[in-house]
Amino acid sequence: MAFPINRPRRLRRTETIRRMVRETRLSPDDLIAPMFVCPGRGVKKAVESMPGVAQMSVDNVVAEARETWAAGVPALILFGIPERKDPQGSEAWNDNGAVQRAIREIKERVPSMAVITDVCMCEYTDHGHCGAIVGTDVDNDATLELLVRSALSHARAGADIVAPSDMMDGRVGAIRRALDSNGFSHVAIMAYSAKFASAFYGPFREAAESAPQFGDRRSYQMDPPNGDEAMREVALDLEEGADIVMIKPALPYLDLIWRVKHEFNAPLAAYNVSGEYSMIRAAGINGWIDEQRATLEVLTAIKRAGADLILTYFAKDVARKLRG
Ligand code: PBG
Repeated sequence: MAFPINRPRRLRRTETIRRMVRETRLSPDDLIAPMFVCPGRGVKKAVESMPGVAQMSVDNVVAEARETWAAGVPALILFGIPERKDPQGSEAWNDNGAVQRAIREIKERVPSMAVITDVCMCEYTDHGHCGAIVGTDVDNDATLELLVRSALSHARAGADIVAPSDMMDGRVGAIRRALDSNGFSHVAIMAYSAKFASAFYGPFREAAESAPQFGDRRSYQMDPPNGDEAMREVALDLEEGADIVMIKPALPYLDLIWRVKHEFNAPLAAYNVSGEYSMIRAAGINGWIDEQRATLEVLTAIKRAGADLILTYFAKDVARKLRG
């Protein structure tokens, strides 16, 4: 039935009616807050390319976790900046490293908050790549052992969920087997399943001090034009035991969020990455867009596309706004 019988504007007439027919609702429950934990005490070092984000020592991360939880956000994901780097990235499995200490402290002081840890070598290696270098490239199978050590160290410290972001083949299975045979069958895996070699990670690499010192990540992160391959990556990770799969970045890959949700019906996360954050922040600071509206619009779009969970640097602020 066409116009003039049908007038879609009738349901847009007042805020109350719009509220009644709204199809997608963003909730603080959907959000995961990334945090960068560094050595020291009382440290809060602003990340220049991500206004509002800082590297924090354990004490400040705990304070931030408390505020984020109070705002209604159920989970955080920790990235570590080590005291020293080496070719293997051995600080990644130091049981007294910044991430491991942060996990223990958060679990003690904000016990209900879900603690997720990023499992990757790039913050810990002196060459900045996500694994062990053999020749001129990252060696897949040699890296698995390093990732396993790191994930086990996070589990020992009390992490609820480990999140491998390295894009090595077989790492979900390797981590699952290691967790299970060491008494951590209750620890979940959120796999960065389809992680693309993206320009939008630029600001993160300043935040995590993890830029590759030679070459790039294209021999392990995915080629941006490939959608079918993303479906195969997700299928492999689910077979290997991933509990949650992830698409990353979010905005340039909304089509894949949709496809994964509909093809797999599995819990799905999307990472609204550093570049996506900084673009909105920069335009907001300059007065070029309404930052709050843009943020809500973007995060709601990611949810509408099919994401159950959204990793975003806006988490705390958005949760506060949603709660009014
Ligand atoms: C580590 C890692 C990266 C991000 C999350 N985990 C960077 C990279 O792969 O270079 C990016 C997150 C962001 O940009 O917000 N491998």
